[in-house]
Amino acid sequence: MTGGGIQLIDRAEAAARLPEFEGLLQAALAAQGRARAPYSRFMVGAAVLGGSGAAYPGCNVESASYGATICAERGAIAGAVAAGETAIRACVVVTPTAEPSSPCGICRQLLREFGTELLVFAASSLSDSVYAARLGDLLPLSFGPNNLADASAAGPDGTAG
Ligand code: THU
Repeated sequence: MTGGGIQLIDRAEAAARLPEFEGLLQAALAAQGRARAPYSRFMVGAAVLGGSGAAYPGCNVESASYGATICAERGAIAGAVAAGETAIRACVVVTPTAEPSSPCGICRQLLREFGTELLVFAASSLSDSVYAARLGDLLPLSFGPNNLADASAAGPDGTAG
């Protein structure tokens, strides 16, 4: 399903929109092969594009304490930030579903930290299909750093200072 700025395209069109797409896709596919998913068997790979132009891979890492599991996208973000990136321009995620699966809500929220214009490409390791969207399209009216900045002007009881 598409709409609201979310488009179903193919890999060639994604590469036309973002020159770094193919490199990110290959990094995400390689990371998918390294995913640790013994419980769900759902292996996910991701790669984010840092402001420097470098790509950072991530994969899901599941835990026997299921709630401790981390998604591929958040692993990639953590790697980029640890490497010194302060901006993230795009995220490619690869799932083993013919119709690409788009990032979960928690990952959308962490991606939001880097702006609503961040490009998200949800690709498939089984087909040529790609969903493309701005982060702001995946998470409308999002809570972000700007909301905290607004509140700092308020008094401790939350009313106007
Ligand atoms: N998963 C991701 O890595 N990214 C997502 O956006 C959705 C879900 C992982 C978490 C878990 O290891 C497995 O997929 C099944 O939910």
